[in-house]
Amino acid sequence: MSKNATELIHSIPVDELTGALSVPIYQTSTYVQEAPGVNKGYDYARTGNPTRAALENLIATLEEGSTGIAFASGLAAIDAVLKLLQSGDEILAVDDIYGGAFRLFTHIYEKFGITVNYVDTTNAENVFDAITPKTKLIWIETPTNPTLKITDIEAVARIAKSNGSLLCVDNTFASPALQQPLLLGADIVIHSATKYLGGHSDLIAGLVVTKTRELGERIKFIQNASGAILSPNDSWLVIRGIETLPIRVAQHCKNALAVAEFLTQHPDVEKVFYPGLKNHPNHIIAAKQASGFGGIVSFTLKNDSIEAAHAFVCNTRYFKLAESLGGVKSLLCHPAQMTHKSIPAEKRKAAGVADGLIRLSVGLEEAADLIEDLRTAFELSKAAVQTQSIHA
Ligand SMILES: Cc1ncc(COP(=O)(O)O)c(C=O)c1O
Repeated sequence: MSKNATELIHSIPVDELTGALSVPIYQTSTYVQEAPGVNKGYDYARTGNPTRAALENLIATLEEGSTGIAFASGLAAIDAVLKLLQSGDEILAVDDIYGGAFRLFTHIYEKFGITVNYVDTTNAENVFDAITPKTKLIWIETPTNPTLKITDIEAVARIAKSNGSLLCVDNTFASPALQQPLLLGADIVIHSATKYLGGHSDLIAGLVVTKTRELGERIKFIQNASGAILSPNDSWLVIRGIETLPIRVAQHCKNALAVAEFLTQHPDVEKVFYPGLKNHPNHIIAAKQASGFGGIVSFTLKNDSIEAAHAFVCNTRYFKLAESLGGVKSLLCHPAQMTHKSIPAEKRKAAGVADGLIRLSVGLEEAADLIEDLRTAFELSKAAVQTQSIHA
């Protein structure tokens, strides 16, 4: 993040009316006008709200963009970007895309005549080969979920530009504390602010940031026209989360690296996925474009079975079994039975999501306690699987 913590904290405005240090929650649906069209900058709260505006300005500053726009969920933010397109347009998307984005692209937008081509964007040449004159939008996530694949944002941005396509980066996993795609040539950034920006697993929110004001105006128009705005209360919670973003993310990264290093040594582990490990295929690109490697670590078990992974995720104490990520408390999930359950097993495995793959969202507890928790889970789950096979 080019803004340091001091600048970030003091870029959140003090309320001009009252001097309130914390941004006030303007819980109102409408604003009294002096005469028709004569107002203090706000007329109806779907169109604009001062608490939401404070968040929108803050995220635009953090991502070094011109305009921030806040939505009721990450998926509503993605949906707003897709509404820039027209029937006949093509999207070129990362093949390891978040399942909810895949569902939206395939089941909602394809029926309106938008085609989606999925490619492995970890090699920019694949993007070059797959792009067509109809490709109006390139969609990447880096790192991806749950296999932490890395795409070179600058290289893909150059290809997008030469083709006249927009590049949108889902920056949810890295957050602007580690990576600012607009500075690397992207046109749009989206966030599930539900994750690291909110940071406390207590809200659902989405954000879009655009590089240009013109693109920002188009998304603002869509926000007002479609109406999936973020509430004032949740806007305030995201602002409060962002106040501690740099310090939280720094600790998430430290803890995640310690956990990843522990896992690489463990005899029951087949493979560890973490961009901070030197043997990660795109470690050098991750180090070039981000100032840290994030708080998510995935790994596969040597016993690559649903049963072994199931037993593991049911035997942790601090890592709570839950969907989502990016909060203070550590979470874990078993994608084959949870986030990726709807994907046919062969397709899921081809994308690297093995039966025995487990995803960790490493929280802010003591790293030593988290490692001990995992060590115990390996022992307990192995014993549980052995007992099952004896009784089978
Ligand atoms: C990378 C990524 N993008 C977008 C989303 C969607 O965000 P939300 O759940 O806030 O709608 C998620 C949710 O898990 C995600 O992981």
